[in-house]
Amino acid sequence: MSSNLKPALIPAPESYEQGEGIFHIQTTLRIGIPPSNSQRPGVAGLLADWLQRRTKNLRCEITDTEPDVQFQLESNDSPEAYRLEITPSGVLIAGSETGWVRGAAALTVLLGDEGWPVCKIQDAPRFRWRGMHLDVCRHFFPVRQVKRLIDLIALHRMNVFHWHLTDDQGWRLALDSIPQLAQISAWRDRDGERYGGYYTKEDVREILDYAEARKVLVVPEIEMPGHARAVLAAFPELSCAGGPFEVANTCGIFEDVYCAGKEKTFEFLEKVLAEVAQLFPGRFVHVGGDECPKTRWKECPDCQRRMKEQGLQNAEELQSWFITRAGKFLKALGKDIIGWDEILEGGIPPGAVVMSWRGVEGGVATAKMGHEAIMSPTGACYFDYKNSTEPEEPGNLGVIPLDAVYNYDPLTKDLDEDSKSKILGVQANIWTERIPTWKLLEYMILPRMCALSEVAWSQQEHKNWDCFQNRLEAHLIFIKQMGFTYRHPLRDHREFPL
Ligand code: ACM
Ligand code: ZN
Repeated sequence: MSSNLKPALIPAPESYEQGEGIFHIQTTLRIGIPPSNSQRPGVAGLLADWLQRRTKNLRCEITDTEPDVQFQLESNDSPEAYRLEITPSGVLIAGSETGWVRGAAALTVLLGDEGWPVCKIQDAPRFRWRGMHLDVCRHFFPVRQVKRLIDLIALHRMNVFHWHLTDDQGWRLALDSIPQLAQISAWRDRDGERYGGYYTKEDVREILDYAEARKVLVVPEIEMPGHARAVLAAFPELSCAGGPFEVANTCGIFEDVYCAGKEKTFEFLEKVLAEVAQLFPGRFVHVGGDECPKTRWKECPDCQRRMKEQGLQNAEELQSWFITRAGKFLKALGKDIIGWDEILEGGIPPGAVVMSWRGVEGGVATAKMGHEAIMSPTGACYFDYKNSTEPEEPGNLGVIPLDAVYNYDPLTKDLDEDSKSKILGVQANIWTERIPTWKLLEYMILPRMCALSEVAWSQQEHKNWDCFQNRLEAHLIFIKQMGFTYRHPLRDHREFPL
């Protein structure tokens, strides 16, 4: 793609044909009511919201008569494909209901000062999984801020929100059958003050509706067997040695985890998973599986008995047995599991999808075994890592500059054609140990998320770093007009938002 592609659309579309002139918006933009949309006005209302958020004095009317913007149903190989036709007299968005939302996002980004450039766009994503993860445990973020992330996901034509709901430093989901989780596990001591919070089921339903309107899949993560200190603070009997424990108020990896030998552990987790499966309509539940020390298991008579009974050779096989058991329970409820790449150790649980974070090797091995994998390596996809090497730059651990994200290709050379088809896509993770405020969170992910959206959506042959940088200048104006905080890649960053 040439480096002066106009207009500035991120992620780059599959095909773009420039015409003559502009569609000028009159005082009121008339948005057509889409045909066969179950929740009218659905996408028309969404487009109006997005456009008005961008252009404060724009008036939109949703109407059946003489609309300026029309939606048309059109089937396509890819359910997310869309076609956009902008003429001097109007705009057509053709596709499935999901395609309309992707087209509405592109149209929102494309809006210029006077209106839209006359053009034709035909577009479809490279990958099925284009995700953003959010850790709400290390720091808690209320519904309105979670919605800001879901808008960013949808506006970048991404489609998954991975919601990391449980960890050592807090459990964030209120469950009817286990009230102690919201009462005890959601709160920790921070310098003598109580810090924490949780989402009610009403909150979750509000997020799910918001995501569904934007055709974003919500994937809840319930961590096991490690990262369980917040649960053990309320239920020490689910550990190997018995506690007492406090909800963690420091970061790190904790040795006390769920006991794999005691049946109580599974009674608890099955209650949790049953409620989670009922609440979240999507195909997947993420069960974590990362960073689980086996120290306690090796000394625990219950865990040792379990290993003997099940014929397991080592603690890694015990973890595999643990995740497999959770997976079977969820399968019976119609859900598939996802786990971090540690779930490969001791044998991959049947049907599990692997999220490769400790590099790409886990994802490659998974795909070669015929399982589905999602690439999320620390080298390109950890947006809690610093943006630059400047000593003042906020962030965790390593440095991931913008071009490292942009130049990442999830389909590494060592994948053959068969295994390439098993790579569902790519995802960035935002761990929030060092991100106490939402403003800083947006600074950490923007514009790296814009680069990732192009990795996820655009074909390799349409990617070009110089072209991306040109388009990013205009895209950042869009980001700013929408009210998001971002890190300008070329400016001085000594003043960081806190
Ligand atoms: C992880 O970053 N512990 C998945
Ligand atoms: Zn045990």
